[in-house]
Amino acid sequence: MKAADMFNLAGRVALVTGASSGLGQQFARALADNGAAVVLVARRADRLEAFKAELEKSGAKVVAIAADVNKSEDRVRAFDEAEKAFGTVTILVNNAGVAQKSVRATDVTPEEWRRVLSTDLDAVFYWAQEAARRMVAAQKPGAIINIASVLGLGVAKGVAAYAVAKAAVVQTTKALAVELAFKGVRVNAIAPGWFVTEINDKYLESEAGIAMKRDIPMGRFGKAGDLDGTLLLLASDAGSYMTGATIVVDGGQVVQIKG
Ligand SMILES: NC(=O)c1ccc[n+]([C@@H]2O[C@H](COP(=O)([O-])OP(=O)(O)OC[C@H]3O[C@@H](n4cnc5c(N)ncnc54)[C@H](OP(=O)(O)O)[C@@H]3O)[C@@H](O)[C@H]2O)c1
Repeated sequence: MKAADMFNLAGRVALVTGASSGLGQQFARALADNGAAVVLVARRADRLEAFKAELEKSGAKVVAIAADVNKSEDRVRAFDEAEKAFGTVTILVNNAGVAQKSVRATDVTPEEWRRVLSTDLDAVFYWAQEAARRMVAAQKPGAIINIASVLGLGVAKGVAAYAVAKAAVVQTTKALAVELAFKGVRVNAIAPGWFVTEINDKYLESEAGIAMKRDIPMGRFGKAGDLDGTLLLLASDAGSYMTGATIVVDGGQVVQIKG
């Protein structure tokens, strides 16, 4: 099969959470550019509408749904509205996430722990569960892609809650994968390294960030498009025998032992 056919997403319906900025927008763009109808989800409706208009200019089929991933009624409404517009969601990109205030583990408050775990773990599980239930009920195969982080594989100081949530996203991916494989729903994760977006721009552009960049074997942070190939592999028939995997895309960061 030719690569363009293997990666073709015509007829698929892709819902991307956290599509109002950063990686989520790039994911939605890559899916739309390869033929999927896309459903943009985030809280900031104005941003979603502007981005929808941008994607539509290149002929994409798009709906924008303002929703909070932490609210169960918003989750159900988002999938209902997506189905009404395009049919069953067959690709879910579980991307919405929040960063943690950098503090020592001994100083993390219960409120901060819950805030981070709620968006970065609980919502990932519930949105995947909702998508899977609907794909199984409709007897449609599909793909769920969870956005983890290299901090789900290794840890850094000051981000215990975030790192714990992302490690659990990796395990959630495996747990769902083994239960859904026979139903034709594949569940995989991407663990990105550092990409400059609104979640971390101040930090990555600081002196500490510049030092981090020097430590990345490729000598640079990730840029727009660096995750497209991995996303499309996991979303399309090109990844038809892949499930339960977490693919690291980090310029070589996590495999390096600093001597
Ligand atoms: N950038 C990196 O270096 C990096 C590295 C590894 C992993 N990641 C992961 O990649 C994902 C995207 O991060 P990013 O860098 O693109 O950050 P970002 O630019 O801050 O985007 C985060 C997105 O999540 C949405 N969001 C947050 N809370 C939400 C909620 N309660 N309900 C609905 N949407 C919500 C935000 O939209 P609204 O505010 O409009 O709701 C926004 O669209 C996150 O899961 C992050 O942990 C990022």
